Amino acid sequence: MDAPLTVHVVTIFPEMFASVLSASLLGRAIEKGTLAVELTDPRDFTTDRHRSVDDAPYGGGAGMVMRPEPLCAALEHVVATRGPARKIALCPTGAPLTQEIVKRLAREPRLVLVCGRYEGFDERVREFVDEELSLGDFVLTGGELAAMVVIDAIARRLPGVLGNAASPTDESHEAGLLEYPQYTRPPEFRGRVVPEPLLSGNHERIRRWRRLQSLLRTRERRPDLFARVPLTDEDRALLGGEQP
Ligand SMILES: C[S@@+](CC[C@H](N)C(=O)[O-])C[C@H]1O[C@@H](n2cnc3c(N)ncnc32)[C@H](O)[C@@H]1O
Repeated sequence: MDAPLTVHVVTIFPEMFASVLSASLLGRAIEKGTLAVELTDPRDFTTDRHRSVDDAPYGGGAGMVMRPEPLCAALEHVVATRGPARKIALCPTGAPLTQEIVKRLAREPRLVLVCGRYEGFDERVREFVDEELSLGDFVLTGGELAAMVVIDAIARRLPGVLGNAASPTDESHEAGLLEYPQYTRPPEFRGRVVPEPLLSGNHERIRRWRRLQSLLRTRERRPDLFARVPLTDEDRALLGGEQP
């Protein structure tokens, strides 16, 4: 039986994935059968003696471009042998990855992540995928690290992966806000003390303190996010100076 989510990765460096997929939450999710990751090497779909996956760019210029034939053949092989899937190319020109996209992808049964290398894919590959995602406004040497980030973020959303105690409800970006500050023991560290409401044992006070910190932190650090948060009456009261 298939795992609730199977992620196929099309990559010329499948060996990069072993340690990330075997450690911690991802390792346990795979062991429990909640997540499956299958690696497909486009070199296995080349037809020339050198198994070449890249070629010089038309029009000249530095670097090499990934050839469309092995990439598309690998994609088609995954779909033909394993079933329909949402196909995603990782590239710096894609839509920036957000928690909303992560949540949407976690509801899919099967994904294919296509990793580029060199100067990226031949432009025509874009027509064979459903969407293009970017990790942000910077350039990586290849799509493999981006694919691992996508898999990690999605895996946390799968049922049972975080365990019963942990829940992503209050986490940063879950409801449009950044998370409140977290503290653990000791109550005083090099003269810096844990905020008093957290030590009060009063659950309602703690809840209101956390909500206010979340609002303040988001307003200060991410005004772009704050502008989109629908504030409740309580939020306005907290921000208006009411003591939690
Ligand atoms: C060196 S990059 C190619 C960059 C490309 N020449 C450009 O300027 O847009 C090689 C590969 O790394 C991956 N990559 C680089 N930056 C990325 C990012 N910000 N998000 C996702 N993937 C990225 C993509 O798969 C890309 O095809």
